Amino acid sequence: MKDAAATTSGQTIYLDDYTAPGWLVEEVHLTFRLAPEATRVLSKVRFVPNPDAPQGQFYLHGEQLSLIGASIDGTPVSPEVTEDGLTCDVPSGAFTWEAEVEIAPAKNFALEGLYMSNGMYCTQCEAEGFRKITYYPDRPDVMGVFTVRIEGEAPVKLSNGNPVREGEGWAEWHDPWPKPAYLFALVAGDLVNHPDSFTTRSGKDVALNIWVRPGDEGKCAFGMEALKKSMKWDEDVYGREYDLDIFNIVAVDDFNMGAMENKGLNIFNSSCVLASPETSTDANFERIEAIIAHEYFHNWTGNRITCRDWFQLCLKEGLTVYRDSQFTSDMRSAPVKRISDVIDLRARQFREDNGPLAHPVRPESFQEINNFYTATVYEKGAEVIGMLKRLVGDEAYAKALDLYFTRHDGQACTIEDWLAVFEESTGRDLSQFKRWYSQAGTPRLHVSESWADGTFTLHFRQETPATPGQPDKAPQVLPIAVGLIGPNGDEVQETTLLEMTESEQSFSFTGLGARPVPSILREFSAPVILHRESDNAERAFLLAHDTDPYCRWEAGRTLAKQALMRMITDNAEPDQAYLGALATLLSDETLDPAFRALAMALPSEDDLAQTLFETGHVPDPQRIWEKRQEMRDAMADAMPDLLAGLFAAHQVPGTYQPDAAPAAARALANSALALLSRRDGGERARAQFAKADNMTQELAALSCLLSIDAGEEELKTFYDQWHDDRLVMDKWFSLQVAYAPPAQVAATAERLATHSDFDMKNPNRFRATFGALTMTPAGFHHASGAGYRLLADWLIKLDPLNPQTTARMCTAFQTWTRYDADRQGMIRAELERMAAQPKLSRDTSEMVSRILA
Ligand code: ARG
Ligand code: ZN
Repeated sequence: MKDAAATTSGQTIYLDDYTAPGWLVEEVHLTFRLAPEATRVLSKVRFVPNPDAPQGQFYLHGEQLSLIGASIDGTPVSPEVTEDGLTCDVPSGAFTWEAEVEIAPAKNFALEGLYMSNGMYCTQCEAEGFRKITYYPDRPDVMGVFTVRIEGEAPVKLSNGNPVREGEGWAEWHDPWPKPAYLFALVAGDLVNHPDSFTTRSGKDVALNIWVRPGDEGKCAFGMEALKKSMKWDEDVYGREYDLDIFNIVAVDDFNMGAMENKGLNIFNSSCVLASPETSTDANFERIEAIIAHEYFHNWTGNRITCRDWFQLCLKEGLTVYRDSQFTSDMRSAPVKRISDVIDLRARQFREDNGPLAHPVRPESFQEINNFYTATVYEKGAEVIGMLKRLVGDEAYAKALDLYFTRHDGQACTIEDWLAVFEESTGRDLSQFKRWYSQAGTPRLHVSESWADGTFTLHFRQETPATPGQPDKAPQVLPIAVGLIGPNGDEVQETTLLEMTESEQSFSFTGLGARPVPSILREFSAPVILHRESDNAERAFLLAHDTDPYCRWEAGRTLAKQALMRMITDNAEPDQAYLGALATLLSDETLDPAFRALAMALPSEDDLAQTLFETGHVPDPQRIWEKRQEMRDAMADAMPDLLAGLFAAHQVPGTYQPDAAPAAARALANSALALLSRRDGGERARAQFAKADNMTQELAALSCLLSIDAGEEELKTFYDQWHDDRLVMDKWFSLQVAYAPPAQVAATAERLATHSDFDMKNPNRFRATFGALTMTPAGFHHASGAGYRLLADWLIKLDPLNPQTTARMCTAFQTWTRYDADRQGMIRAELERMAAQPKLSRDTSEMVSRILA
């Protein structure tokens, strides 16, 4: 009985154990009689034997349900009920199952299943939350047509699909598209809508709504525009039209993740949809646009074609992240988006890949699937698709996608299905490429060069370090985009794609007049760590001449990183050559201000810690912090006039617009402001704070002040101005932790957790406070151990309420083996203290044990 095992605490589920469902669902009728403490859910499900699989014992998932009664074909039955579900004797042919259960949404703080947020009923079913709503085969390969009746006082009642009928105190919805239970959604509450409409390219009118709590109506316009742009883009680029009469989005304050693609009824963390110039930063606007697109794109990649089982999660997530990144590249600046994605991938996915939580893009086992909504599945999953597209070319990619959509529409699929459409439409053998899905770890790509008689040769060697459960790695297919630049700075070989398949492989370029400088891994064509011996002069050359924006940025980043490394390990002074090259780049008015802002950012403390560790040093978080500060002071001292000029020249006059161009100007001006503030006593930042009419400017100014130990007054003003706005208050919480001096970080988080506006049940607020702690390395890893203790204390408190958010935040400890024995000892003690909690959730216990392993 595989299904039962799938939910028993501590059990490991294996991809290899997959068996098809014995019973399929034709139709589902659900009736909800809503009440906060005692909601009744009546289900009526038409089951048919799966003609392609043995029936076996009939089993339905169900957790935390009170079964009131059940019947089969109208005759009452007494199923055998366990903690995870029920079994029952059933007829051999088709039959109708009916059950009534009671649940208590007001007591559901795990925010999975049906729960309440600020008086509003809402649901989160992915991955396995539907089983907390009623007994059901809660697995993605069982797809049924849902009809939902909602009864209750709430004025607005929503579910998937199209509205059918409504009356006094009830409403009915019908979703014509068969779907797995994880895409079910229900919302009921006192909501107001921001309506609009969209006409599809075949002329169908679709009603669009963003539903929010009264008072938030003014924060919907931007999200609505993003939705319409997404709908149009998916038609233009992928040929995909929307397929219902109505598309609803709801903003919910208490939500574990970013958002959820429920069919026709997307539910969003309010932080990922509500936007206004006064309360949202440029970064918030960009993120909201991307998440709206992401969830909308799931309608085809996820909903119309879903996953056979949860091991295939990257089938929908990798592809949908890839699609939303294409969308953002088209809407904004493609090079800036690519560089930002690389920064994010290294910060989150490489970090994961280098530690005890490393796992393949398609994991082969899990205890709690919620622990696998990771940077590896999502972001590395998207990188894999980017590589595939690069290897087969744009046209073949489009052809393969068309085949995917026609062949698999309405199905629950696997990575094998996905790769098969590429193999068939291109004739390529992808068996080696498939290792990207099965091998964990980030490949290291070593390159050396030789030059003789007009021939330039690149010698590559790839190796992937061992990861948990995978000691030996086979070579992977690496698409390496390369260009060559001549001594005068002109490109002598435009970008060409080298396809590396062996452990060691060389590629030659002939007929060259002079030895070129190679530009390797253009556009970051493969998610690898590139090791190339080169000197600073050459990096400065690439920083000045490379035509590929990513490689150009990377050259600058490498210079900065080398300089910082020497400051940390050898007590070197800030490198004047780096500062000079940076100044040259920053003065180049032909360069996108957003690109220049990115070039100005130093490698993160975490990135430096990992690099130190890999080069045989024990990272000292305090020292890393100090040296970064020293470098920033040196930057401020080296180019005061340039910075003042950039700041002045990139002030954006007029009404705030969230578009890429003004946002880029603000990004550059605010990067300059941060450095200028180190030398002007905060004068400019104070003035900017005082006159700011948008959150980007207000928050940037406040951050500058806090980072120079000023801004106490402004922090109060900010609180008085925004204490009624939950999303802005999240910023107020995290800012204070993030900018506290390292020795004060833990104490600041601890103090804020006693503030009357702190609410541990709200994941956004919990993350604002304790997420900021974990993302402030010098504070979190302070030698006192106070950061570790505080985090563990609060994770232990949160776990009984919200296991998902607790487990996710355990990742703060995943880098622990990098550090010195004292720190390792303290972290181990905290992890063991957590592991010893008597009723630790399956989620958290899996994370803690994997980190300790
Ligand atoms: N499918 C959602 C998205 O990528 C994420 C939902 C994850 N939820 C969870 N509880 N693991 O947009
Ligand atoms: Zn997604």
